[in-house]
Amino acid sequence: MRLSRAVSTAAIVSLTAVGLPAAAAASPAAPERSVTDVVPAPVSAKADPRGDFKLTPFTVISADRGAGQVADYLRGLLRPATGYPLPVVPRSWGVPAISLQLGHDARIGTEGYELKVGRDGVSLKANTADGLFEGVQSLRQLLPSAIDAKRVQHRTWTVAGGSILDYPRFGERGAMLDVARHFFKPDQVKLYIDQIAQYKINTLHLHLADDQGWRIEIKSWPKLATVGGKTAVDGDPGGYYTQKQYQDIVAYAASRHITVIPEIDMPGHTNAAQSTYAELNCDGKAVPVRTDTEVGYSSLCISSPITYKFVDDVVRELAAITPGQYLHIGGDEAHATPPADYLTFQQKVQPIVAKYGKKVTGWHEIAKSTLPVSAVPQYWDFGGDNESVAAAAARGNKILMSPANYAYLDMKYNPETPLGQDWAALVEVKDGYGWDPASLVTGVGEKQVAGVEAPLWTETIRTSDDIEYMAFPRLPGIAEIGWSPKSTHNWDAYRQRLAKQAPRWVTQGIDFYRSPQVDWK
Ligand code: ACM
Repeated sequence: MRLSRAVSTAAIVSLTAVGLPAAAAASPAAPERSVTDVVPAPVSAKADPRGDFKLTPFTVISADRGAGQVADYLRGLLRPATGYPLPVVPRSWGVPAISLQLGHDARIGTEGYELKVGRDGVSLKANTADGLFEGVQSLRQLLPSAIDAKRVQHRTWTVAGGSILDYPRFGERGAMLDVARHFFKPDQVKLYIDQIAQYKINTLHLHLADDQGWRIEIKSWPKLATVGGKTAVDGDPGGYYTQKQYQDIVAYAASRHITVIPEIDMPGHTNAAQSTYAELNCDGKAVPVRTDTEVGYSSLCISSPITYKFVDDVVRELAAITPGQYLHIGGDEAHATPPADYLTFQQKVQPIVAKYGKKVTGWHEIAKSTLPVSAVPQYWDFGGDNESVAAAAARGNKILMSPANYAYLDMKYNPETPLGQDWAALVEVKDGYGWDPASLVTGVGEKQVAGVEAPLWTETIRTSDDIEYMAFPRLPGIAEIGWSPKSTHNWDAYRQRLAKQAPRWVTQGIDFYRSPQVDWK
């Protein structure tokens, strides 16, 4: 089932009460779609209503050397609904084309692009395949939403005319999926990857281990997955990824220009490991399995050498199957680890990550330790003062911004939201869009921000529809905060652009929350 949940009665009443100015609702001049409607908002966009381009059965996709993968991906996006062959060719030889070109443009960096749509064709230029991929995501939004249909639609296919010059404000725009509290199968993760990629998200953080379940095969500690993976919150079915399945997810993400960052949360949030292997407990006794949603009660045994053998084995195996630079070592809510032990643990574990050629990222509590400058603390508190995070920023560490009261996708929209939690805040669409990463934490300005990430914790989330309902429409807002220039930030303009995304989500089968704050078309 992919039907959107009904808007609550209260929401319907308030929408009616607010009413819509008739002129705005029926404005005949507003085109169905435009380069100025793209989400995330581009750096600059200029519409040209006389420059619309029509796809036909004769259109080709021309690709420079190095652009073939993106060209094939684009072809895969456009073929099902158009039914056109859209062959990928090295040069178009005068035939109308969508041309993907690689070059050297100092304005657009590694992920930027320049897109020009005119009557004779579409030209997309970038410095890298990443940039072409992000440009393709903008191009998709210039086509009718029916372009995402899985079967042939008999209609005209007009790409809205104009030009875009675009590049990201921050290097990292991430989403996190907690596959530990509830397990999501590889195909569900891939579905989410496709959904987030269209908003230029470039990082997927997988929360692979927590108190309620361990989700990744570790060959040297096999029972972590086969026993520790059996459980999930509320006694729901567990599961785990074999290393092969994990590598397949990582490769799929890479094909969408998304880097996977795997997380093993420690020294707390470790009950699944400690209920599976007795030797990970200071008294040598396995703790009972836990499937409730308490936090802060578990801790690895900091004084025991076997703890570091365990960490070394896990990090070694995970590093070997993770091409990205970063491993996430958790570090949050270690309330059962005395502060001095916490620092000891960090001092021993961070060099293990380095030994296997990876860099450290972790929840912002890791900033209490002396971090290498390459380490990225992920800030998840409510903003304001945080001494250790500010000190890390002053030493040159970049900070990833995931404020729980704005960016946590598991927060309820309103008190009636059937899923999610409310311990950080109720986060309506406007709230999720209403913050700035560079003025959130004292001492962490534009230059110290690595980017943004929208985490989705899954204590109450069980299905792909649940994921979609919490992520949409908030995830595009976090993506825009991470990608778009601050000067474009404007709720009234954003909510109108966001409304135009809805037909795409309907076609894609995304079960989104129809917030009364947005005039959905
Ligand atoms: C967290 O929400 N404990 C990172």
